Amino acid sequence: MNRVPEPAERVLFREAATLAQNAYAPYSGFAVGAVVVDLSGRNHHGVNVENASYPAGLCAERAALAAMVTCGERSLRYVAVAAADGQDCLPCGLCLQALAEFGDPAIVARMGGEVRVVPLRDLLTAPFAGGDGVGEAGR
Ligand code: THU
Repeated sequence: MNRVPEPAERVLFREAATLAQNAYAPYSGFAVGAVVVDLSGRNHHGVNVENASYPAGLCAERAALAAMVTCGERSLRYVAVAAADGQDCLPCGLCLQALAEFGDPAIVARMGGEVRVVPLRDLLTAPFAGGDGVGEAGR
């Protein structure tokens, strides 16, 4: 179930929207920014980085996730994601799976024209957790 954001969550969304200005998206023209907040309360930034070889492109959420892990953090509290032009933008399925490895963060994103907050597990109810079901995502 999604809900209306708290003021601090709206700030996170605006931060993601500002970051989107730094996206490298010459192929799709769809610029995205993401802010992940770890359990220590630290923010990590990412933007989408496209490539002439299209599958080599990276989504903003996974760029921000990599920045968090690079800092030694392993647990997600929030993921705010925003497209530069104010369009709806929820994390793609690939990003949901990647994020689920590191917890069940609250996703702050525009959906149906409104900024809302929704638990990741409401968007990806059954993340893959390894063939034996004991992967990190299954915690
Ligand atoms: N994209 C993201 O970075 N995050 C999302 O949540 C959705 C899509 C990027 C991938 C690609 O560079 C462009 O947006 C169009 O799909």
